[in-house]
Amino acid sequence: MSFQPAEWRRHFPLLANHPELHYLDNAATGQLCEKAFDAVTLHELTQRANVLRGTYRLAELADAAYENARRQAATYLNAASPDEVVFVSGTTAAINLVAHAFGEGLKTGDEVVLSLAEHHSNLVPWQMLRERRGVALRFLPLAPDGRLDLSRLDAPISPRCKLVAVTHASNVTGAVTDLAPIVAAARAVGARVLVDGAQAVQHGPVDVQALDVDFYAFSGHKAFGPTGVGVLWGRSEALQALPPFLGGGGMIGRVTPEGSSWAMPPRRFEAGTPPIAQAIGLGAALDWLRAQPWPAMQAHTAGLAQRLIAELAVLAGPTFIGPRDLKQRLPIVAFNLADIHPHDVCQVLDAHHVAVRGGHHCAQPLMDRFGVAGAVRASFAPYNSEADVDALLEGLKDALRKLT
Ligand code: ALA
Repeated sequence: MSFQPAEWRRHFPLLANHPELHYLDNAATGQLCEKAFDAVTLHELTQRANVLRGTYRLAELADAAYENARRQAATYLNAASPDEVVFVSGTTAAINLVAHAFGEGLKTGDEVVLSLAEHHSNLVPWQMLRERRGVALRFLPLAPDGRLDLSRLDAPISPRCKLVAVTHASNVTGAVTDLAPIVAAARAVGARVLVDGAQAVQHGPVDVQALDVDFYAFSGHKAFGPTGVGVLWGRSEALQALPPFLGGGGMIGRVTPEGSSWAMPPRRFEAGTPPIAQAIGLGAALDWLRAQPWPAMQAHTAGLAQRLIAELAVLAGPTFIGPRDLKQRLPIVAFNLADIHPHDVCQVLDAHHVAVRGGHHCAQPLMDRFGVAGAVRASFAPYNSEADVDALLEGLKDALRKLT
């Protein structure tokens, strides 16, 4: 199937409303696709009711749409069953859920293994668990190019390790984690594996069964769906082994003044009214994304990132944070320009209608490893084009003129 970025761009209402915009902050948030927008609107106009509670026809329509979204998410992930999909508010909530529910079963001396490439959302919840339960945190180191150094996995992933929680792809370097050896090392010591998929899902469907992990977390808004919703996928047996995290309506079997029993997953983890419209929007986005020509789209975004890296290198001797090649790497390019503060670069770029993020990107241990406080980051989606790279390069030249 051929791929035309300009054609794809037409599926994103905000981009039509801002024809001047060069939106290159897709690692922070992807733009909402019209399929998600339409599904949310349809739901709000014709199906809005609470779910999994009402027996009247409107409520049954809402139930059906919500459960359909669960099936759509399960299909995108190639999950064995829709019951393995828990709707949460986003990646952060999904990881906190596991840190609490799985963490309940841990004790002093147990270890959780992370990496130095983690976003704070896959680090701080584990530090908080360390405070609560006395577990130790171990870190997979980074190679000089920012990829995870997997050469000595048996040192951090020892028999004391109960869980390995790693990113599928860094939100700074774009490096895609080679999960297979990590999963093998974790399995060898009986540890579970959680993957932070926040960055990976917007670059194509994921196969959680092929990855052979236990938990996979992602956010809807990065996958061209609504904000306020995300997914925790868990292998059935892994989810069933967990106690609930939040208590409330909808997650129980039976409640008496003396105590409660729990519903089976996924309900056990969806206390209270879930993000109904958002989940329906996300389901529609994922259903649409699944049918897209991913190999062509990935080649397109990789080409844009490759051109940016090549042109940056001749522009001003930038410092790259991450690998220079596009092998096993998402189209996310982080760099510093001369000694200009990233926020200053972003401000000049904004005057050129180029939207990129600058700062520590919620990954301070990774920044420390590179000896910088922050970086400018351009992150590409399939609706981006050569014109976006042109505008970015023009803006960077302008920043060099004005700020050096
Ligand atoms: N996690 C998002 C980012 O990296 C917000 O920008």
